[in-house]
Amino acid sequence: MIPRRRVPISAYDVAEWLRSPLRSRERSAEDVASFERAFTEYLGCGFARATTSGRDCIELALGAVGVASGDEVIVPAYTLGELMPLLQARGLTLIPADIEEDTFNIDPRRIAERITPRTKAILATHLLGAPCDIEAICGLARERGVAVVEDCAHGLGADVSGRKVGTFGDAAIFSLEVNKAVPTYGGGVVVTNDAKAAEAIAAALDSRPRNDKPALKKAFSSWLEEGMVRSPFYSILARILFSERFAARFEQMYRGGHDRLRAVKPRYSGFQARLGLRRLGQLDRRNERLNERWEAMAKGLPEGFVRQARDRVGRPAFYNFVALSPIPPRELRKRVMRRGVDIGVGSEVMDECARMLGFEDCPVAASVSERAVLLPLYDGLSQRRFRRVIRALEEAVRGEAR
Ligand SMILES: Cc1ncc(COP(=O)(O)O)c(C=O)c1O
Repeated sequence: MIPRRRVPISAYDVAEWLRSPLRSRERSAEDVASFERAFTEYLGCGFARATTSGRDCIELALGAVGVASGDEVIVPAYTLGELMPLLQARGLTLIPADIEEDTFNIDPRRIAERITPRTKAILATHLLGAPCDIEAICGLARERGVAVVEDCAHGLGADVSGRKVGTFGDAAIFSLEVNKAVPTYGGGVVVTNDAKAAEAIAAALDSRPRNDKPALKKAFSSWLEEGMVRSPFYSILARILFSERFAARFEQMYRGGHDRLRAVKPRYSGFQARLGLRRLGQLDRRNERLNERWEAMAKGLPEGFVRQARDRVGRPAFYNFVALSPIPPRELRKRVMRRGVDIGVGSEVMDECARMLGFEDCPVAASVSERAVLLPLYDGLSQRRFRRVIRALEEAVRGEAR
């Protein structure tokens, strides 16, 4: 079975994992500071701090730009669903703005319609590595006196007019999860150019405990998980776990397990920082290489699939391959699975947050979430397997029996 995702594991990760207990606290703290400095330089921003996760960063960033309980925040109608309950638990009222049909990104025109005197901030997500129209969003926000937090969880390395995403808003966040561009077995980076926001973030983070164990544990469990995906049993397991009967329950359990790990909030560890430094150095080449493969996949797609317009606003970063399917995604999955290819559908791609929030007036998000599929594309996918994915899609769309 060709899995939809693969976790990159290198000998360097394992060596660092083994060396970690021997590294002093002081040296580890220096490693974290070096990573944060390198991140600041890479992005071209004034301040960057690494912490537990991207979602932790979103909470920190919103707090740092002055959003408090009772405030309204505009969010994309189509993005990661888990962010909704997390922000609601902080007493925020979330108002979704519909997305653009071609980029799948939050639409500045729909944001303008949603701003009220209660609006305090806009969460501007660069979805699936495609820059959103951040210049228009920031212009609008300035006019209306609203803060902008950029969600760059998928967008590390993307730029608009030669400037990296994450440097436009009042603050921005990045994710360092295992499936992201700089994977460090969890973690996130929050950045800002605003001195007051930086001070608030530093104050919140400096009181957290140092503890490298959760990150080391997470690395180990990721390797076990990946070992299973790469084993011959995965074909059988995937057919059961992603079947009509179990897919939803399995996804809930999987996400819940990862959330429990994220609920612990120690400081970013030296182990993660050392991996982060190395991967940050490889990032531009990775984006180039995988963006080329993204284009090749887009060209090879059978007729009827709709590709995301990733480069209308700026230069995209690579994050997964998502397209709109010409046939119902669950039917497509059934057919390609018979041909040994695993794909993501429905909320395994992203969530229709508008509906989760009780809004029925975001038709583009509804239609994209009904048709979106996540296809296998990553480092380590051989040319032979790449062609097998394309062939499976062609046969599945033609409805050939197997
Ligand atoms: C759009 C978006 N924002 C934020 C996050 C949160 O990042 P993390 O998983 O590091 O908490 C994710 C995670 O995938 C995401 O997809």
